[in-house]
Parts: sequence; C-alpha cells; structure tokens
Amino acid sequence: MRKPVIAGNWKMFKTIAEAVDFVDKIKPVAEKAGHCEVIVAPPFTALAAAAKAAKGSKVAVAAQNVHWDKEGAHTGDVSTGMLLDAGCTHVIIGHSERRHDCGETDEQVNKKVKAALAAGLAPIVCVGELLAEREKGETEKVLERQFVVGLAGLTAPDFSRIMVAYEPVWAIGTGRTATPEMAAEAHRFIRGLTRRQFGEDAAKGVRILYGGSVKPENVGGLMAQEEIDGALVGGASLKVDSFAALINYPGA
Ligand code: PGA
Repeated sequence: MRKPVIAGNWKMFKTIAEAVDFVDKIKPVAEKAGHCEVIVAPPFTALAAAAKAAKGSKVAVAAQNVHWDKEGAHTGDVSTGMLLDAGCTHVIIGHSERRHDCGETDEQVNKKVKAALAAGLAPIVCVGELLAEREKGETEKVLERQFVVGLAGLTAPDFSRIMVAYEPVWAIGTGRTATPEMAAEAHRFIRGLTRRQFGEDAAKGVRILYGGSVKPENVGGLMAQEEIDGALVGGASLKVDSFAALINYPGA
C-alpha cells in the first residue's frame, strides 16, 4: 500500500516567525492524520527554525532546491550538508519554476538527485509539460525525457527513496487544474516509465504526487484516483486552515 503524501511548497513566502507559527499550528493536525505523510517546504531562511519547531512531530521539512556539490564557490546555492544541518529530511528537485526561471536542465536535476540520495535526503522530483507541449501532443515525450534523464544511473533501491511529482506547468498557480482523469493518465504513464527503468516493485511502490492548483475543493476528486498518491501544493498550502483541509481531504 502506498501511503498518501500531502506536501506544501511555500515557494518564496513566509518569514521565520510565520513558518514557525504555521508548523506549530499544523503539528496537531498532522498528528491526528495517520492516513498520510505531511511535508512542508519553507524557503531556505526559515528551514532551520521550521525543522526545530517540527522536531518529534509528524511534520517533515523539505528544502525547495539544492546544489550537487558538497561545498564550493556557488554564490546563492545551498548544499545537501547544509540542508541536513538545518534539519531537512526531503528536498524538492526540478520544480518547473527552477527549470523555467533559472534554466535548470534534466542533467542538473540528475546531479541534484544523486547528491541528495548520497547525503540521505529524500528527493521529491518534479516533472511536467508546458501548455504548448501538451497542445502539440508532446506530453508523454516530455515526461519521458525528464524522467529518463533526471533519474539516469539510479538503482532500484535508490529509486525507492524518491517521490515523483507530476506538475503540468499550465496548471501551476493558474487556477487551472488538470482533471483527475488527465492527471491519472499522466501518472499511469510515469508509473509505466518506472516499471521499465526500475522494475515492477518500484512501479508498485512509488508515490506519484499531483501538483498544480490543488485546493480543498478539488483535492478529494484527485485523491480518489487510484493512480494519485498525494499532492504537492503551492498557493493553498500557505494558510493553516486550507492546508489542514488538504491533509484531511474528502475520502481520507
Ligand atoms: P500551486 O503550485 O498549487 O500554487 O499551483 C504547485 C506547485 O508549484 O508545486
């Protein structure tokens, strides 16, 4: 059985005090919600304080990005060791905003995934097509490239520590969600890629999260899909009430 995951990606929102206040308030909600894993991804500046507040609770803390080198002359970057030091257990890699705002490539995603795994961090690897790519019928081609290149060279045991997030770029922050059926179709395709690259057990076990304008009103329909194992949520993860409603999604 795949345990569902509800993850909040706070992007460039929240001060240290706001992050700590949020974690303190969501801890009892996560404690009661035995049906799913709860993860929050604060900005770098609030990671250590959020992780301290979350210590001993059922709230796990993820970073939103990481560099592949252990240390070095990389202005503005953060290493796996620094994330562990801050108390992170997970790291989001290859988010579409990193790919499109910062030109992050599949090869860089691959280096980051390998570095995270080597350090003992659990990667949440994002894939997803642009609207123009979907309209040209290239969704599967794009997902396949991102998956195959982004996860190249990993073994099945490595892969078992990864979660994949399918986030169609046209649905992120636009209010335009993929229908549950559209999302499930993409998830089925990603599960098929997993089977081909890492085997049947990996395909059965991998948690594939959907992301893109998930909110309390549509999370139930998405989570009802057998293929959808969780949600990676931006906007609707920023308010405690809304995130609590996502954790306790209809049907949970
Ligand atoms: P959104 O963002 O929920 O605001 O669409 C999702 C994401 O980018 O992870």
